[in-house]
Amino acid sequence: MSNVLEVNHPVIDIYLTTLREKTTSTAAFRRAMATIGNILAYHALSSLPLKEFEIETPVQKTKGLTPASDVIVIPILRAGLSLVDGIINFIPEAKVGHIGVYRDEETHEPVNYYHNLPAGIENGYTLVVDPMLATGGSGSHAVKFLKESGAKNIRFVALIAAPEGIKRLQEDHPDVPIITAAIDEKLNNQAYIVPGLGDAGDRYFGTT
Ligand code: PRP
Ligand code: URA
Repeated sequence: MSNVLEVNHPVIDIYLTTLREKTTSTAAFRRAMATIGNILAYHALSSLPLKEFEIETPVQKTKGLTPASDVIVIPILRAGLSLVDGIINFIPEAKVGHIGVYRDEETHEPVNYYHNLPAGIENGYTLVVDPMLATGGSGSHAVKFLKESGAKNIRFVALIAAPEGIKRLQEDHPDVPIITAAIDEKLNNQAYIVPGLGDAGDRYFGTT
């Protein structure tokens, strides 16, 4: 697990509890996801390259700093959208692209159904975001597609990751760091994360 950051923070523990609890309302679920998304963005952007430019304070000229490349957030639809609010609240300049991947309920294999990527992705600092890294099939598929589209500097942001998904993503894409709020125990025989939080998309969109 060399390229994995599990972010430990008391506020994450509090909001993860809200997200895992099955009686949590949709409103509270959304608020908790946004708060954790914000914290994960802080860590996922810790090596964002900056460039200098000159600014002028009311007192004198000094050095300013700005991103050296665009921050590009790519949620994996649908559930990845749940983390976007928290992330762009932290970095409002970020561009947001979309990849639509669903996991076939029988085979658990990823199926692509949509994409819309911002121009200049080759030079961007890209965060692929999805709350659940379960088998890793959807995540690995999305990262492969982004690489084929020119993206180079990619990080994967997941709320909860299963050891199986981490292994798969690291084997397929060892160059992609994973930033997560929790590494859970395992997958069950439906490939759901245990203890997890159930179906993240259904809970966030209120479609259960
Ligand atoms: C969920 C989740 C991930 C995927 C994870 O999406 O948001 O994209 O499953 O599973 P994996 O690691 O085994 O591929 P889902 O297919 O339920 O679609 P949704 O986002 O539209 O709800
Ligand atoms: N997708 C989810 O939404 N939850 C899981 O536990 C696994 C995949």
